Amino acid sequence: MIPSQHPDSQLLLLDESLHQQLANLQEKFAAEGQNLSCYLEKLLYDKGVDYSDYLSIETLLTLQKPRTGFPDELVFILFHQISELYFRMILWELEQLTVPVEMLGEELFLDKINRLNRYYRQLIRSFDIMSDGLDVAQFQKFRTALFPGSGFQSLQYRVIEICSTDAFNLMPRKIRENIPEHLPLREIFEKLYWKKGALHVGSGRKSVTLTNFEMKYNALLLQKLKDYKHRNLWQMFRRFYEKSGNSEFIVQALRTFDQLANVGWPFAHYKVVLKALANDRPGGLESTGGTNWSKYLHPSSHAIIFFPQLWSVEERADWGLAH
Ligand code: HEM
Repeated sequence: MIPSQHPDSQLLLLDESLHQQLANLQEKFAAEGQNLSCYLEKLLYDKGVDYSDYLSIETLLTLQKPRTGFPDELVFILFHQISELYFRMILWELEQLTVPVEMLGEELFLDKINRLNRYYRQLIRSFDIMSDGLDVAQFQKFRTALFPGSGFQSLQYRVIEICSTDAFNLMPRKIRENIPEHLPLREIFEKLYWKKGALHVGSGRKSVTLTNFEMKYNALLLQKLKDYKHRNLWQMFRRFYEKSGNSEFIVQALRTFDQLANVGWPFAHYKVVLKALANDRPGGLESTGGTNWSKYLHPSSHAIIFFPQLWSVEERADWGLAH
C-alpha cells in the first residue's frame, strides 16, 4: 500500500501499475515462446498510427475511375461506392447475427438488427444525392459508356438477401404462390426473382448484364444459399430468439428491417431511376442492364418479403403498393 501523503505517491503508483503491465506482457509473450524485450525494442522505433495510412485514404481516393469527362460521373461513382460500403456494414452485422445464441445473446441480437435499420435509413435518406443532385442531362450522356454494367450486378446486395431469409422467399410472388415450399435449392436458385426479372425487354432472353453476372458469381451465390439455408437471419430468429423475453422488440425490429430493405430502399432507388431515365417515350430510356426496369424495379412487382410470417395477409397483398 502507498500512503497518500507520500510526496512521490503518483510516481510510485505509476511504477507499480507499469510493473504489473510489464509482468502481464512478459507472461503473455512467454506463453507464446517469445521474448518481451524484442517487442519493447520495437516500440522504440514505432512511428505510431498515421490517420491516412491507417484508413488507406490515399488508396481510397484512387479508386474512382470515370470513363468520360462529365463532372457528375464522379458523383455517380462515389455514391455507388458509398452505398457498397454501407452494404459491407450491413453484411458485417448479418455475419454476426447468424451465429448461435450462445455466442451473441438476445440483447446483442436486437441491437444488431437495429444497426441494420440505422444503415438502411441512412442509405434511403441519402438517395436525394442522386435524385436531386445528379445532373440528368449529363447522366444520360455518360451512362452510355457504362453498358452493359448495372447496379443489378451488386454481389453484396444479393448476399444480403441470402443472409436474411430462406431462398424460397426470394422468388417472385407469382412463382412462390404456385409451387411447393420444399423445392431443391438448385431449382429455387434458378427461379430467384432477379434471374426471372432481368430479361431483355424485346426478346425476353436473359440480358448480357445477367449472364455476365451469372458467369462471375453463380457458384459463389449457390454456395452462399447452401451455407445460409439453416442459419439465415430468419432461421436464427426461429431457432433461438422467438421465445425470448425480448421477442416482441425483436419482431418489431425485424419488421422494420423487412420494410426498409424491401420497400424503402427499392422505392427510393426506383424514384431515382424514374427521374434519371425519363424521356418522351412511355417507359423511358433503355437501361444499361437492359431490363424492363419500370416494372422490374417497383417493390410491389416481385413483392420480396424476408419475413412473411411476421405480416398479415393484407399487409403481404399490399406489399410496396403504398408508395
Ligand atoms: C442514377 C442512378 C441510378 C440509376 C439510373 C440506376 C438504374 C438501375 C436500373 C435500370 C436497374 C435495373 C437493372 C438494369 O436494367 O440495369 C438497377 C438495378 C439496381 N441498382 Fe441501380 N441505378 C442507380 C443508382 C444505384 C445506386 C446508387 C445503387 C447502389 C449500389 C444501385 C444499385 C442497384 C441494385 C442493387 C440493383 C438491383 C435491384 C434488384 O435486382 O432488385 N443503383 N439500377
